[in-house]
Amino acid sequence: MKTAITELFGIQHPIIQGGMHYVGFAELAAAVSNAGGLGIITGLTQRTPELLAKEIARCRDMTDKPFGVNLTFLPTLSDPPYPEYIAAIREGGIKAVETAGRSPEAYMPALKAAGIKVIHKCTSVRHSLKAEKIGCDAVSVDGFECGGHPGEDDIPNMILLPRAADELKIPFVASGGMADGRSLVGALAMGASGMNMGTRFVATKEAPVHDNVKQALVKATELDTVLVMRALRNTERVLRNKGVDELLEIEREKGASLKIDDILDQVAGVYPKVMVDGQMDAGAWSCGMVVGLIHDIPTVKELIDRIMVEAEQIICQRLTGFLDGVEPPKAMKVA
Ligand SMILES: Cc1cc2nc3c(=O)[nH]c(=O)nc-3n(C[C@H](O)[C@H](O)[C@H](O)COP(=O)(O)O)c2cc1C
Repeated sequence: MKTAITELFGIQHPIIQGGMHYVGFAELAAAVSNAGGLGIITGLTQRTPELLAKEIARCRDMTDKPFGVNLTFLPTLSDPPYPEYIAAIREGGIKAVETAGRSPEAYMPALKAAGIKVIHKCTSVRHSLKAEKIGCDAVSVDGFECGGHPGEDDIPNMILLPRAADELKIPFVASGGMADGRSLVGALAMGASGMNMGTRFVATKEAPVHDNVKQALVKATELDTVLVMRALRNTERVLRNKGVDELLEIEREKGASLKIDDILDQVAGVYPKVMVDGQMDAGAWSCGMVVGLIHDIPTVKELIDRIMVEAEQIICQRLTGFLDGVEPPKAMKVA
């Protein structure tokens, strides 16, 4: 399949693996890129720029295909050393960066000078337009369904994607709720040029996380995620567990006066406990509603091949079938 996104990143299939804390290591990124998508290493999971440089080199040893790095601009008081992370990205020969969180405006000159294509993850049309204005090459439009931070507008992709298509000139991928060939075709129909998946990629053989996490995803349904940290305007969609129930209880008690310090036990340092040690009740970790569509743990290649076959079947058989005997509109007629 050829779209503006496959052309932009030099990949075979219009499928991107979004940055994921403690999941987006070289193993997963390389597997996605080897299967024809765009794999992404999560920059800040590497505690220092030096460690990121090593992770990029490790990924390079596992694939000769393009892969990218996610740089998440956190709402923290003390910023990680972003310029040094960007230097590691540039020196590692990376040509695709997924930015997320705050606007990447301050870092665009450095990224562009290194010939890097920037895809910024946005949860609203206004942020997408800002990304276009500051020179981003593409946008990952992240709907309310998404795992992680959906923003504060609560607009699902059925509305957000066509709105983005109406306003944006740069290409965009649909992110949030994407799992299979149906998702891809739906996203393309609504104006996207591909899709970005997070949660679905966690339940794959190559995802370097504890098996408990993968089993929990297979077991969970679309009813098992909740939003936390709304009062802090840092809303996150997470998989429900004992730690998250405690967090919700604290949120109920504190109401609008909630401070991050009140919930540190349930939100800080949770990822290694869950992803490495498999402690499924440790607290808040990102998970999308799409978990309701996850029923197996395939290899990344099996997953991507399956998506592409299903997408092509839907387009060529199901959708074209509806047009059987229907005269195409004049604009579509070949002279
Ligand atoms: C476990 C997990 C960790 C994530 N960590 C990050 C992160 O560190 N930075 C980021 O930009 N997005 C992060 N995300 C969001 C994904 O990149 C992606 O935007 C999102 O998962 C898309 O929604 P989906 O889960 O419905 O596919 C994370 C998602 C998950 C599931």
